[in-house]
Amino acid sequence: MRDVGLCRLGILFAITVSIVLMLVSVPRTALNRASTDGDLDDLDLDKDLESKLNASLLRVARGNKMSLRLQRRNLLPPRNLDLFPNLAKDRVVIVLYVHNRAQYFQVTVESLSKVKGISETLLVISHDGYFEEMNKIVDSIKFCQVKQIFSPYSPHVFRASFPGVTKNDCKNKGDEAKTHCQGNPDQYGNHRSPKIVSLKHHWWWMMNTVWDGLEETKDHNGHVLFIEEDHFLFPNAYRNIQALTRLKPEKCPDCFAANLAPADVKSRGEGFDSLVAERMGNVGYSFNRSVWESIHEKTREFCFFDDYNWDITMWATVFPSFGSPVYTLRGPRTSAVHFGKCGLHQGRGDEGDCIDNGVVNIDVKETDKAVNVKEEWGVRVLKHQAGYKAGFEGWGGWGDERDRHLCLDFATMYHPRSSSESP
Ligand SMILES: *[C@@H]1O[C@H](CO)[C@@H](O)[C@H](O)[C@H]1NC(C)=O
Ligand SMILES: *[C@@H]1O[C@H](CO)[C@@H](O)[C@H](O)[C@H]1NC(C)=O
Repeated sequence: MRDVGLCRLGILFAITVSIVLMLVSVPRTALNRASTDGDLDDLDLDKDLESKLNASLLRVARGNKMSLRLQRRNLLPPRNLDLFPNLAKDRVVIVLYVHNRAQYFQVTVESLSKVKGISETLLVISHDGYFEEMNKIVDSIKFCQVKQIFSPYSPHVFRASFPGVTKNDCKNKGDEAKTHCQGNPDQYGNHRSPKIVSLKHHWWWMMNTVWDGLEETKDHNGHVLFIEEDHFLFPNAYRNIQALTRLKPEKCPDCFAANLAPADVKSRGEGFDSLVAERMGNVGYSFNRSVWESIHEKTREFCFFDDYNWDITMWATVFPSFGSPVYTLRGPRTSAVHFGKCGLHQGRGDEGDCIDNGVVNIDVKETDKAVNVKEEWGVRVLKHQAGYKAGFEGWGGWGDERDRHLCLDFATMYHPRSSSESP
């Protein structure tokens, strides 16, 4: 079944290129250490600039040296402008959001370097925390324009204040009744863990920044494709997402998005000759500005739902609140693979960073190298799929009022008139 398409093309045998990427081993201690200051001395801050940058931050980050330096870095022009001075008009901007798993990130970047057409577009890399190992990998990218941004609000860049851990934070169940600690328990009685809430904060900060804040992207009306540090992209990923977004209005006018991978992350696709419309997945999803605006309108739903996973929050509250099923259009073969074995996912709790045996083995077949969705194909609609939906109460971890309000502030920081912060 998987190779039917290849036979049609008259290829007698599938050339399987097996990529075994031996991952650079980076000491765990280095990986887990987020810089809080001192590592960014390459950028001088004069007093004037410092106070301007300070004023441009939300109040929680004002005066935090690391936040100021990151905010300064966020204003640097894209990298590789000399190599790729122009972007294609019909580009799909790619946003890659990352934390600190350098071994994974290296594999993702390696796969991107082989993606056909990628030199036509802008790659935005959004960092949760500041890690030298991650920066070294970004330095090595020479295949397209790259805009690097860092969340100045990442809990990882705060030493002793919110959104990091503060001395006065409640720690254990029931602390709030016994002591004068700060923090609200979630629906299961647990208090916030900065390491865990950082993922949802980063996703929301990144979404708001890319669509509404960043000079390089805030006027982009086309699609933006989102990927993570443990996603492997096939060489046809960019041309496929372009084809899918082009076909979407005609083939699936009700689809909100286009995806590179099936909603079921374990599936590589059915391999049949048809497009697929299904529930929106969290690997290689893309949508346009008007969909972003619909999401942004549901800020309260997003920020008040007691689940620390951004994706489950979307499935259980934001999408259901749109009033119609949220479908995405994809091809019958995946163009993106989630290879991280571990990470922060539902119900797993605080297991920290976890690194597997250091080898990623992904088959790239001939059909994965060029566009493999066809204009003449019909669309199969997958209805009643399993998964999180309206009614799910959430896994918790997001009960602290401070997190909820920071989340609201991210949604208004580029819309000054509706800001919840006083000037
Ligand atoms: C930044 O702003 C805060 C609050 O307005 C202020 O207390 C602090 O001194 C300022 N820091 C710098 C470096 O400008
Ligand atoms: C953006 O995508 C939505 C959903 O597919 C579609 O209805 C809308 O027309 C698109 N907007 C633009 C400007 O293309």
